[in-house]
Amino acid sequence: MVNSLEIAPSILGGDHSALADSVAKIAEAGLSWVHVDVMDGHFVPNLSFGPGVVKSLKPKFPKLFFDVHLMLDNPHLYIKPFADAGSDLITVHVEPQYPVSATLQEIHIAGKEVGISLNPNTPVGEIVPFLAQVDLVLVMSVQPGFGGQSFNPVALEKIKRLSELREELKLSFRIEVDGGITAANVANCISRGADTIVAGTEFFKNGAALISAAKEA
Ligand code: DX5
Ligand code: ZN
Repeated sequence: MVNSLEIAPSILGGDHSALADSVAKIAEAGLSWVHVDVMDGHFVPNLSFGPGVVKSLKPKFPKLFFDVHLMLDNPHLYIKPFADAGSDLITVHVEPQYPVSATLQEIHIAGKEVGISLNPNTPVGEIVPFLAQVDLVLVMSVQPGFGGQSFNPVALEKIKRLSELREELKLSFRIEVDGGITAANVANCISRGADTIVAGTEFFKNGAALISAAKEA
């Protein structure tokens, strides 16, 4: 593995009436990343957080790495607001119609790490043209939109393929997996090459078991 293992709990699975308390649990667990799921009601059938949420949480947790996952039809319109809000990494999806490469470049120029994501039914080939531009590839293991869904094993093959491509192309992007991760399946993701693990429901219900399963994998 080229990258250190990071677990990025998703605050979508936390208490929305007390988000700072949910983020505090992440820091107390000794983790460094927080995953923020941003939804627009168009690309996915749900709404969640805007840049104001990142802007109010980041100063309270300046040492945490804010991993912002944009599930938006028009992500290119929201790079500046999320960058200015204090995001450390901004991930956009490959599926919507917008200038993908220019948007990745905009994230980079804003001084942020750059991520690209693909849905369970999107082939890895769709993101290959962008691999040299990114710091992270986010493999969705559920159809995005909601926490608490079951892991789709199609992600395992994609993680493995991305891990091979990373080696062939001599790149070092992180491979992040998101959706339905539990203490029981996290090792399967890590053994295929995932180094960054998103977990919403499982972190807030069963965090200690998840963390130890990931560290032992
Ligand atoms: C789904 C989100 C995920 C989700 C993960 O649209 O991208 O980050 O919150 O939640 P769990 O771990 O509950 O599947
Ligand atoms: Zn996510």
